[in-house]
Amino acid sequence: ERVKCMLYYIFYLVHVRHVVLVLSGKGGVGKSTITTELALALRQAGKRVGILDVDLCGPSIPRMLSVGRPDVHQCDSGWVPVYTDAQKSLALMSIGFLLEDPDEAIVWRGPKKTALIGQFVSDVAWGELDVLLVDTPPGTSDEHLAVLENLKKHRVDGAVLVTTPQAVSTGDVRREITFCNKTGVRILGIIENMRMQQYILEGGWGRAGQTDRISIFR
Ligand SMILES: Nc1ncnc2c1ncn2[C@@H]1O[C@H](COP(=O)(O)OP(=O)(O)O)[C@@H](O)[C@H]1O
Ligand SMILES: [Mg+2]
Repeated sequence: ERVKCMLYYIFYLVHVRHVVLVLSGKGGVGKSTITTELALALRQAGKRVGILDVDLCGPSIPRMLSVGRPDVHQCDSGWVPVYTDAQKSLALMSIGFLLEDPDEAIVWRGPKKTALIGQFVSDVAWGELDVLLVDTPPGTSDEHLAVLENLKKHRVDGAVLVTTPQAVSTGDVRREITFCNKTGVRILGIIENMRMQQYILEGGWGRAGQTDRISIFR
């Protein structure tokens, strides 16, 4: 049994090559949208991609990928992700699939939530993946620490921070940067999303041609 466990562990470890967290200080800044777009772009580039949707406050990735609420199954090595295509190039596991009632998560508190997230994160049988993208809840909470803790068996390559012009001014992104520095997660880049909308709000249509600003550090 122990050998089987070890073999499984090794298999598991080798088969997810890169793990990237997508973080934001606030909800509604486009974190799930960016996660989905990144996944589709990577798939377009011929990579096998997985999305782990851990956002208990609003697991929205299934809707964005038109997956709905499928029944998920467990095999020996954990929850089997849902594939969005016949080639099995985009795998998805959402915490939303496990909730009886989508509003249920709201009533969970502290330890129960953290334990559930931990278990969820470590119990997905991803098979072979080039990149695993993790859509986290907004903020820097115990839930994030639980995600990191349970992703340890995979090497976390770093985080993409998503923000909006408004969030920059309220310091949310600074808190995210502090969180990454404290937990030793490398910041791969910051995406300033919905910049165009901000231009429309501030300066009228004249400046609306601007695209969103993306800073990639590496
Ligand atoms: N660049 C963008 N342009 C227009 N709408 C966007 C953009 N990014 C996100 N949205 C919209 O904003 C809303 C919130 O995005 P979402 O990805 O769910 O945010 P989060 O996951 O951070 O809560 C959604 O309705 C989404 O379609
Ligand atoms: Mg979201």
